[in-house]
Amino acid sequence: MSKTITVLPGDGIGPEVTSAAIRVLKHLFERFNHDVRFVEKRIGGAAIDADGTPLPQDTIDQCRLSDAILLGAVGGPKWDRQSMEVRPEQGLLGIRKAMGLFANLRPVQAFAPLIDASPLKRAYVEKVDFIIVRELTGGLYFGKPSERRGERREQVVDTLAYSESEIERVVEKAFRLAEKRRKKLTSVDKANVLESSRMWREVVNRVAKRHPDVAVSHMLVDSTAMQFIINPSQFDVIVTENMFGDILSDEASVITGSLGMLPSASLRTDKVGLYEPVHGSAPDIAGQGKANPLATILSAAFLLRYSLDMDQEAALIEAAVQEVLERGYHTPDLKVDTGDSKPVDTAGMTDQVIAIIDEKRRSMAEKG
Ligand code: IPM
Ligand code: MG
Repeated sequence: MSKTITVLPGDGIGPEVTSAAIRVLKHLFERFNHDVRFVEKRIGGAAIDADGTPLPQDTIDQCRLSDAILLGAVGGPKWDRQSMEVRPEQGLLGIRKAMGLFANLRPVQAFAPLIDASPLKRAYVEKVDFIIVRELTGGLYFGKPSERRGERREQVVDTLAYSESEIERVVEKAFRLAEKRRKKLTSVDKANVLESSRMWREVVNRVAKRHPDVAVSHMLVDSTAMQFIINPSQFDVIVTENMFGDILSDEASVITGSLGMLPSASLRTDKVGLYEPVHGSAPDIAGQGKANPLATILSAAFLLRYSLDMDQEAALIEAAVQEVLERGYHTPDLKVDTGDSKPVDTAGMTDQVIAIIDEKRRSMAEKG
């Protein structure tokens, strides 16, 4: 049966990094004889310019017909002064919500050749390997009311709202992930202040009973921000509210020394998912062919694993990305710690990843 991937390149470097990832995917599909179709649609600033809205209905309709979505990035100075409804970011929030992608997975893992670029001590960073599960379709981002009030509009309200079931489904996902890893789950909240956090804790403790082999702890969000710097290797799986997860995942991204390396997956209960790099649209280097495509290529590996059940192909991509760094290849954003530095652009990096995939595939075939 043929599968469909919808590609949403978006703005800035989005089109460059998504086309790099598509090249890698097409190469693998050809080699492994998979029948997968790509359909491209607009989102973000590109859609505002062409369609007058950051999330055209046609884009939503196509995503609903797809097995997976690969997204580049949205936003840029061109649209920064627009009113809230016609900002590129609304396209991203809108597609996550429209597709019901409630669990956002953001792994934080150190790549050995990049560790010296981390602001933290090498001894800590080497051992970092955790994943943030951010609730993505509720909480402070989507709660109503969210508006200006008063005669002079001198008052404002945002709402942090959750139902038990919204918390339960994302917490359940986090527990299942922990079961496949080091079996440690940290639930992050602000239960010393917020009622929503107290309910969040209750739900976590209830779900924990179904997963007796996972060690659960609760940590306050302010303290977690501190622990990320003091001792980041203590974490395995973290689960938290939408806004807390947004903030913590940016903090976590610098631990490993390379924001340009981090993929993400936004999932729901079935296999459909949206995959995007954690970095933004980098308008300052857009169109110059020098963007680092590796976070998007790693997001494509997630897509293969979570949406298309192609574990072997996903592992090949991940091994190739590791290897490309070890061989010293790097785009201008990466500080690689090997004697043999080989600067490349977006296309050059993609070529190398593809070449290494073929090498690895051949040696696998020879070993039988
Ligand atoms: C992210 C981004 C988005 C978010 C913005 C662009 C709306 O910061 O994916 O973390 O806040 O979710
Ligand atoms: Mg963010």
